Amino acid sequence: MTDLLMASGRSNVPPFMVMDVMSAAERIEAAGGHIVHMEVGQPAAPAPKKALAAAHRALESGRIDYTSALGIASLRERIARHYRDSYARELDPARIIVTTGSSGAFILAFLAMFEPSDRVAVTVPGYPPYRHILTALGCEPVLIETKSDTRHALTGEALLAAHRKTPLKGVLVGSPANPTGTMMSREALTALISAAESAGIRFISDEIYHGLDYAFPAVTAAELSPNALVINSFSKYFCMTGWRVGWMVVPEPLVRPIERLQQNLAISVPTLSQIAAEAAFDGWEEMEAIKRGYVENRRILIEGFPKAGLTDFLPADGAFYLYADVSRFTLDSFEFAKCMLEQAHVAATPGIDFDPFHGKQFIRFSYARSAAEMREAVARIARWLG
Ligand SMILES: Cc1ncc(COP(=O)(O)O)c(C=O)c1O
Repeated sequence: MTDLLMASGRSNVPPFMVMDVMSAAERIEAAGGHIVHMEVGQPAAPAPKKALAAAHRALESGRIDYTSALGIASLRERIARHYRDSYARELDPARIIVTTGSSGAFILAFLAMFEPSDRVAVTVPGYPPYRHILTALGCEPVLIETKSDTRHALTGEALLAAHRKTPLKGVLVGSPANPTGTMMSREALTALISAAESAGIRFISDEIYHGLDYAFPAVTAAELSPNALVINSFSKYFCMTGWRVGWMVVPEPLVRPIERLQQNLAISVPTLSQIAAEAAFDGWEEMEAIKRGYVENRRILIEGFPKAGLTDFLPADGAFYLYADVSRFTLDSFEFAKCMLEQAHVAATPGIDFDPFHGKQFIRFSYARSAAEMREAVARIARWLG
């Protein structure tokens, strides 16, 4: 290919394998098969009714204008109120920035916090775009493996050991986590943040699965340090994936730099989505009912999977994922997922997307759909493995 047509080196990020599973599932469905979908990490439920009604009203009013780059003021205030109501934490709305999902927040945060070639620690297993976005922006992701003995929480010791090898500029963790579904306790998060800050390592907390905590209450890093940068989203608890709206709580000195970046990169976040997001906060009852559905789904899988033959999985503390070790059956979870899809018609995601080291041993099951589908999945897997 001539130089004129070559894509840049930094755009050469790996694809998302889950997309391949989705395409294979679509082919089976086109041929008349019925698939139980457990591969996609998104709620089956639509946005709360109050959010939809607010969006309808806004559309009828005609004009949908740009908003301020930091987001609609009343939405930023509503998000601050959410911290008061849900975490008993007072936050200055001036520190809250509305973003294009948490995905948009990662780009803004990384650009504002890091220089090209800075090293930023992320955990493995972990959400792949963390490392791929860092790479695309010229930073170096440093993969630190987490282990089941710490509930897959990154420890201060592991972070500082990596830092001693080659200095780190930042660290990003998520709790509840994707793909493991595990959570960090208050003590673990507090210890990690203080270890990071003592070594001058900037701390980013991905809290997109907050609200979906079952084992114990999720703790926000915003409560633990004014220096931590918190990222959250309306995609999961609020069931608004396609609306592409999220937020950040940022240390005060980063507000203006991020505002300038947002002005230049996006101007503002889609206005209709911001209006709907603000109204979503009034849809608690609906969202709590959906959460109760996940609690039931989690119970069905935790009780049903061992009987079906899937005996080893990590503690399903939060989010809507169960991460199962399938090494009793195979050392190639991609092949396992493919056969399970073709023969049992259950779609799930091979761990290799999330973990280049041991992902071939694991499969991620998402339980964000109906209880009937969960029961069907358990029955199909039991027949298939039996
Ligand atoms: C851990 C985690 N962070 C961030 C995202 C991105 O979500 P969004 O950009 O929709 O907010 C996802 C999506 O699945 C995720 O699992």
